[in-house]
Amino acid sequence: MSRFQLTRTLDEHSAEEALRADVLQGLSARPKVLPPKWFYDTRGSELFEEITRLPEYYPTRAEREILLARAAEIAAVSGARTLVELGSGSSDKTRHLIAAMPELELYVPVDVSASALEGAAAVLLAEHPKLRVHAMIADFTRPLPLPESAGPRLVLFLGGTIGNLLPGERAEFLRSVRSVLSPGDALLLGTDLVKDESVLVAAYDDAQGVTAEFNRNVLAVIDRELGADFHAGDFEHVAVWNRREEWIEMRLRARHELTVKIRELDLAVEFAAGEEIRTEVSAKFRQEGVRAELAAAGLELTRWWTDEQGRFALSLATATAD
Ligand code: SAH
Ligand code: TRP
Repeated sequence: MSRFQLTRTLDEHSAEEALRADVLQGLSARPKVLPPKWFYDTRGSELFEEITRLPEYYPTRAEREILLARAAEIAAVSGARTLVELGSGSSDKTRHLIAAMPELELYVPVDVSASALEGAAAVLLAEHPKLRVHAMIADFTRPLPLPESAGPRLVLFLGGTIGNLLPGERAEFLRSVRSVLSPGDALLLGTDLVKDESVLVAAYDDAQGVTAEFNRNVLAVIDRELGADFHAGDFEHVAVWNRREEWIEMRLRARHELTVKIRELDLAVEFAAGEEIRTEVSAKFRQEGVRAELAAAGLELTRWWTDEQGRFALSLATATAD
């Protein structure tokens, strides 16, 4: 029997429909917005991997440090036989955890990026001769039909990706995670922490311009998929710290006045000079906030680990009784 299975809950047609709806709605709004999941085509996933290796982008290294230090403890506390990972990307950090989980039978990576899932599965199957991998191309903000599998289950949501959801979306997301947890299951959540503004801004506006290229890649996706005529060079990458909301905002700012035609939407979008599209937020957290958001979704924070420098946290949470 093959140890690898791939399920696509997001077919190409409905993905394109969703992109059309998001672009139409987002670029008609004031201020203009685009949802972040459209960054991650094959090129976007490659650029994100490059971001994780930048000197300024500390979250990946900080989270890896915690995972390496705590893998045995996480494995022991969870006793998981199934590991589900949302927004798994390259699964690179997850390999440290999997190596420490002797009971693990099945790994279920869930991502919108098919290329990232295929790359990750190939590495893991080769490294772990007994592990089964059931990859799912799916949107984690939608209800997830997870495969039947042995408990206990551990659900991973790493990389600080929860910070890319807005507060209302986070509440809904955490409730949907809670709804797939049975007694004995757990959630392991990675959150970046509030810190000095200069460190945060540098992490999202690196000297080499990789993050800028990543941000502008969403325009290339819209050009390709919807026949638009965005020119990446017309937009400047901007990262600002919003002190009140405690999140980094990524924006694309029109360098001059321009009109973009989007053929498939039969739409012309006008930009004033300096007008911005908000492409992503990346919220930064404090322990009390994480505890409260988990509690509101019926989840109890049972462990809190940070890296030595206190930059990033991993939280372990279990479902509270209904
Ligand atoms: N977990 C990895 C990758 C983080 S980047 C790490 O910690 O390094 C965010 C990942 O989430 C990308 O792989 C992206 O393709 C995926 N993603 C973003 N929005 C998504 C959505 N709505 N549904 C599923 N996957 C999503
Ligand atoms: N989850 C990552 C984060 O918030 C995603 C990310 C990193 C990102 N750098 C980015 C998203 C730049 C958009 C632009 O840290």
